[in-house]
Amino acid sequence: MGQLFVIEGVDGAGKNTLARRLVSAWERDGLQVARIGFPRYERSVHADLAAEALHGAHGDTAASVHAMALLFALDRREAVDEIRTLLSHNDVVLLDRYVASNAAYTAARLEQPADGEAVEWIRTLEFDRFGVPIPDVHILLDVPVALAAERAAARENADASRARDAYERDGSLQSRTSAVYGVLAASNWMSPWRVVTADVDPDRLAAELSNQPSGEPKVTP
Ligand code: TMP
Ligand code: MG
Repeated sequence: MGQLFVIEGVDGAGKNTLARRLVSAWERDGLQVARIGFPRYERSVHADLAAEALHGAHGDTAASVHAMALLFALDRREAVDEIRTLLSHNDVVLLDRYVASNAAYTAARLEQPADGEAVEWIRTLEFDRFGVPIPDVHILLDVPVALAAERAAARENADASRARDAYERDGSLQSRTSAVYGVLAASNWMSPWRVVTADVDPDRLAAELSNQPSGEPKVTP
């Protein structure tokens, strides 16, 4: 059984770059690694509907905090079998965003704290009801919100297809989301959290993570 690691952070934090570097480091060490990014755009109709809503489609869907969270949650529900299969065939499965994204953004939109009703609603919906696998470790890529916002804006300027969505345009939402993430991490919500900054050494982090004792016994040949 492989270990399940999740990278979390606000929009523009640099999760994709960190994920690529971690995967390279593990592969260099001879580990078998799989990676999935959530939302699973172009693979899940729920993910696509959520993105379209955040770009202004589907009437008042984006205005509904709970409707948006349900779309993101349904994308993960559909991925449960895939994640379990990947865990059984790999040493490491790395997820770029996961349930904690829904917890942090939903609480932030509702201006609730990390120990409020929204986070608990997401926890029971996704982990208890949908049975999505619990991560072994969460990694929070904690970068200053202003820097992350600059990066999201720069992407938009460089590539029209990456126009910022409603969440990326909302600096106040990003700040509140960052704050909720910080408390989720400090309380080790659902699993141990590692908080890292943009200058983290990915090789070292990869080594530390893969030596982390897993919740499930590891099958060694
Ligand atoms: P993305 O920027 O990673 O493509 O994700 C789209 C937005 O949706 C981003 O602002 C984070 C947010 N989100 C949630 O609110 N809940 C979720 O479960 C996920 C995966 C993303
Ligand atoms: Mg985004």
